[in-house]
Amino acid sequence: MPAGTFMFDAYGTLFDVHAAVARAGASLGENAGPISQLWRVKQLEYSWTTTLIGGFDDFWTLTERGLDFALARHGVADAGLRRALLDAYLSLDAYPDVAPLLARLKAAGKATAIFTNGTRTMVDAAIAAAGLAYLLDHVVTVEPLRAYKPVPAVYAAAQAAVGEVQPRDVVFASSNRWDVAGAAAFGFSAVWINRTGQPDEYPGHEPVATLSDLTGLEAFVTA
Ligand code: LAC
Repeated sequence: MPAGTFMFDAYGTLFDVHAAVARAGASLGENAGPISQLWRVKQLEYSWTTTLIGGFDDFWTLTERGLDFALARHGVADAGLRRALLDAYLSLDAYPDVAPLLARLKAAGKATAIFTNGTRTMVDAAIAAAGLAYLLDHVVTVEPLRAYKPVPAVYAAAQAAVGEVQPRDVVFASSNRWDVAGAAAFGFSAVWINRTGQPDEYPGHEPVATLSDLTGLEAFVTA
């Protein structure tokens, strides 16, 4: 499959959203894992509800609100810990397969892009912390559209931002199956990076491939 641009979701795909609690949440004890999971679930839920309601609060605000809910749900009231977790979210770990794959794509002459719900400030901080800036040609966020994935218009804006004429010329990789469904419905060549062995979902909006990490994307380079 000829592909001009390789586009990546950010959170969960390039950056480990659970790294913040892993790094700064030791005092949460056995609640650490459940709080981290609930934080992510609520952050995403808020992105969908705000879009359906017709409003827009930026993704950093939704990230703060998701954490606040998760901490409250588990009875944690610690302003210093809250601050430390949010600070850690700005420098999440990149998965180890990210930099090698991006480097191989660049060496093969491909364009690389991030397309994310995150604010430009958030994603730039994560890119800088991971030292990935020199491997990325485009960083696109939903902010100008004031709507979140999987609204078709945001994928269309991402396609326009990277300059591809046809959606299928964009290989879009995401670990979020719902994001893959949205990208596939729009017409991107969507690849599901199923890092955690999740069962498939969203029948009718299938990826063109399912991989356990980013390494296998090299198969899309040569055609
Ligand atoms: C993103 C979220 C969906 O980076 O993970 O867009």
